[in-house]
Amino acid sequence: MATRISPSILAADFANLERELGRIRSADLVHVDIMDNHFVPNLTFGLGMVERLQQVSPLPLDVHLMIDDPERWAPGYAEVGAYSVTFHAEATAEPVALARRLRQIGARAGIALKPGTDVAPYLDLLGEFDQVLVMTVEPGFGGQSFIESTMPKLAQLRTAVQQSGLDVWLQVDGGVTAQTIEIAAAAGADTFVAGSSVFGAENPAAQISLLRQRAASHRHGAGNLES
Ligand code: DX5
Ligand code: ZN
Repeated sequence: MATRISPSILAADFANLERELGRIRSADLVHVDIMDNHFVPNLTFGLGMVERLQQVSPLPLDVHLMIDDPERWAPGYAEVGAYSVTFHAEATAEPVALARRLRQIGARAGIALKPGTDVAPYLDLLGEFDQVLVMTVEPGFGGQSFIESTMPKLAQLRTAVQQSGLDVWLQVDGGVTAQTIEIAAAAGADTFVAGSSVFGAENPAAQISLLRQRAASHRHGAGNLES
């Protein structure tokens, strides 16, 4: 199981985004948080910004849509070339149809769950998604504390992924630090979004490598491999 680090540019210097992308070259993906001030009480970027980032980013864009009406907007992000487009389960009544549309355009399709959203209805639908994002904070802001009570959802997802034999990435987002990443990795996550802990570090490359190392050494089932 691979370990992937996806720094969130929500914590980057918005006036120098291209330069900020250069500081995280050793990451696997770049996480781009889209907020509409309706689904969450905060506003960030839109499609035009993602289209431009797509042109200058050396890393694939991992777009996280914290917006209402994803049916209307999500396909556009896939069309401008985002590598993955993740929408919120709470924002749509037709997650499967939307995921199929995103895949048809050529993006990886992701579904995100807020901390209070039950994972059970999605466990039988894993084949429809390329990644599931378990929010480890309430979506809307960077710099919040990791909510550990979300971890049972990851464990359920990891079991379901293993049983299905599918290659669905399990992502965590919010409050991921060199400490909390160990908890998330042990619970079953393989893809880690980190905003403030990467861009707030003096040396983002060193922080990415520390996060990667901590996640890999605490990865789910790692203790059982030898036995
Ligand atoms: C929160 C966003 C996160 C945020 C994480 O709504 O989805 O991606 O940038 O920031 P940190 O890592 O600072 O919690
Ligand atoms: Zn995010």
